[in-house]
Amino acid sequence: MVIIMQIRTYRGVPFIDREEEIEFFTDWFLEAPQRILFVYGPKSSGKTTVMEYVVENKLLNDDKYWVKYLNLRGKLISSYDSFLYSFITPDDIYKKSVETDKKFSLKFFSIQRKVLSEVKNKERDLFEELMKSIEQESRDKRCILIIDEIQKLNEIYINSNRELLKEFLNFCVRLTKETHLCHVLVLTSNTIFIEKIYSDAKLKKTSQFKKVDHLNRDKIKEWLIAQGFSDQEMDLVWDYYGGCVSDILKIISHKKKNKDIKEFLKQEQWLAYTEIVDFMVRGGFKDTEIVLFEEISKEILYNGCFELSKKKRHYLPVIEKWAEKEILFYDPLELKVAGNSRIYEKGMELVIG
Ligand SMILES: Nc1ncnc2c1ncn2[C@@H]1O[C@H](COP(=O)(O)OP(=O)(O)O)[C@@H](O)[C@H]1O
Ligand SMILES: [Mg+2]
Repeated sequence: MVIIMQIRTYRGVPFIDREEEIEFFTDWFLEAPQRILFVYGPKSSGKTTVMEYVVENKLLNDDKYWVKYLNLRGKLISSYDSFLYSFITPDDIYKKSVETDKKFSLKFFSIQRKVLSEVKNKERDLFEELMKSIEQESRDKRCILIIDEIQKLNEIYINSNRELLKEFLNFCVRLTKETHLCHVLVLTSNTIFIEKIYSDAKLKKTSQFKKVDHLNRDKIKEWLIAQGFSDQEMDLVWDYYGGCVSDILKIISHKKKNKDIKEFLKQEQWLAYTEIVDFMVRGGFKDTEIVLFEEISKEILYNGCFELSKKKRHYLPVIEKWAEKEILFYDPLELKVAGNSRIYEKGMELVIG
């Protein structure tokens, strides 16, 4: 078995693999916009990193693209106004900022100062203004809009009866399916949110889903062997960490200090266990729900995942709570549940005893 996995350098650190995803996204942008693309996968699987890699290496330096990349992570979006302040600037400030910082153009929309104040006062509709500027740009550019951590727009209201998320998604449908003016990619780890979208008939028809999962065993093996791990050590790391890139980076740096790997992994398992127990105690569960969680855990440990079916639908509310806490990962397209990353499954081993 020879797999040649690329290890590139991105932002001064190793960037592992993701060939398939890079090709998928690059090809996607070459096609005419038809559907919204929802990119989902467990927390820390590498969604943001691969997307930013594609933006910086394939899109930003190519004049045929007009790209906006809005990352809601770390932004305090508590109201419609704070959403506006985070991503929209008056055109005069925009022009000046872009001269000194090319990436500024990625993060902000520009709207005429006067128009922007009317948008803020709700005398004009934000999405109509954005639509106009995209119409203009799309005459000679391929337009792309990427939103990371979209779930943060949930429960933000433009006014008492207008939901920001709903209007934003409608806008995305107009950009893609209806006018084909602009690609829209939406990233999230929150699959409860994805499920909501998936169960909305209109959105389902106008969307496609792309999962960015943790890396597979062959890739992790190749990476660890290149880092000087023995076969035995690699098996141990795979058992505790699976393919979670950020965890693997931790163990590589630990090994470089010549420290004991097994002891470290056992400690990580213990931490995952305590996190689970803490949530069991404080999560407001009924005893019956704890039993359901233990049954889910057992099935994950014995079969690799818990498969949801019609008969098991009473498990769903419990699954959703643990998924919201990012301890379980629920894939609503495959109807499968597993640990958000492998270490949580190792934590479950201690819970089940
Ligand atoms: N392909 C990769 N190679 C190396 N490091 C990666 C890779 N993908 C992700 N990482 C690292 O793993 C961590 C989590 O990645 P991130 O992209 O934030 O995950 P997600 O957006 O899916 O939650 C980050 O510290 C990132 O630098
Ligand atoms: Mg992310």
